[in-house]
Amino acid sequence: MNISIVGSGYVGLVTGVCLAELGNQVICLDNNKKKIENLKKGQVPIFEPGLHELIVANVKKKRLKFTSDVKLAVKSSEIIFIAVGTPSMPNGEADLIGIENVARNIAKNMDGYRLIVEKSTVPVQTGEWVKHTISNNVKNKIKFDVASNPEFLREGQAISDFMHPDRIVIGVESEKAKNLLVNLYKPLGAQLVITDIKSAELIKHASNSFLATKISFINAISRICEKTGADVVEVARGMGLDRRIGPGFLNAGLGYGGSCFPKDVDAFITISEKLGYNFELLKVVKKINDQQKDFFLQKIKNNLWIIKDKTVGVLGISFKPNTDDIRNAPSLEVIRSLQSEGAKIKAYDPRGALKAKDALKGITFCTDSYAVCKKADCLLILTEWDEFKELDFSKIKKLMRHPLIIDGRNIYDPLKFEKIGFKYIGIGRSANFKR
Ligand code: UGA
Repeated sequence: MNISIVGSGYVGLVTGVCLAELGNQVICLDNNKKKIENLKKGQVPIFEPGLHELIVANVKKKRLKFTSDVKLAVKSSEIIFIAVGTPSMPNGEADLIGIENVARNIAKNMDGYRLIVEKSTVPVQTGEWVKHTISNNVKNKIKFDVASNPEFLREGQAISDFMHPDRIVIGVESEKAKNLLVNLYKPLGAQLVITDIKSAELIKHASNSFLATKISFINAISRICEKTGADVVEVARGMGLDRRIGPGFLNAGLGYGGSCFPKDVDAFITISEKLGYNFELLKVVKKINDQQKDFFLQKIKNNLWIIKDKTVGVLGISFKPNTDDIRNAPSLEVIRSLQSEGAKIKAYDPRGALKAKDALKGITFCTDSYAVCKKADCLLILTEWDEFKELDFSKIKKLMRHPLIIDGRNIYDPLKFEKIGFKYIGIGRSANFKR
């Protein structure tokens, strides 16, 4: 099939390259000309495992092209995906200006039937506005369909999530649109959820908000664990074995970050409010998430007492492992807050350092974990990169000024640290726990 993807960000690029890999002719479009020039040269603006290799392979096979020319993209494609950003406005509402502009530009360049598919995360009823915008701008009453096909890929494992999805949600209003999308996704052999556009839009917001709720729930449980001497990792293990609950998204820690959950929870709260429903549950989910960082900072203060002039080592800046993305990373707030109280920060992240250098000033970036630990008064774990799990802590103990670890991701066994002579503090973990 001939396909265009408007917006070469995370979702757009991964969708484009994977659809090309499935054998389609794909054009990835972006109005950022520099980004397009770089992509043509094989320079990928984000780190995502496997993405670079797939882009190079599909460009070589002439199945994948990059352009800033909307006219070319619209004329050459029967299916056009909209994958532009929908950032939060100051009031939490999703900013849909990008979606409207793209819908208008597609309409103006259409010379025959097109299926326009919302891939970006949008509030329920956006499809109606897209339809309305295209109708108002299209020439000669050309026929078109709008569909919703939300993306569920996770950063860090986006390619595999696309190729092996739990389900593919297709919101359509016509047989033609349905058949086009069913055929497009047939090679994946995945379970399809074929529904109406509004339900498809809601499935995305509801899914992300539900996962955020699970995280805040377990973080709330971690508070009870700390007050009682129970261990949140054990509680989550016991809960997760119940198939109705499931083990995923029950890791207590610094709370959720990234470019999706914080934005989508905000947008869902505001769209619900606009529709006349006060989504109190989600407001509390957000509140618990914000409190989790304060709670972590309090742990640091409880153990270091005065923050001023203390050297704090930080392992991990990206919002989660296997990505260089630092958007809404809990680490940023923790680091800035410690800096404001006069701490000296030394940090290391396997991939996120380059982006962190722009966002964080006045910190010493190290090239490995051991350099971070040298003369540190305490060590913070802010992202659960695998390489942090393999560190030699006997060596680290000798490097640090004081053997103190505050683990915001619960990646270590507290007992092991007690044996080496570290003071280990996790989230909702009891040091007394004996297996
Ligand atoms: C999330 C969803 O998982 C995807 O399905 C969705 O497509 C994507 O948003 C999106 O809307 O585009 P992502 O933001 O890449 O994906 O990352 P997740 O793996 O979901 O993690 C989100 C945040 O929750 C991270 O900060 C992570 O550290 C945190 N988290 C996750 C926890 O604190 N505890 C957990 O148990 C799981």
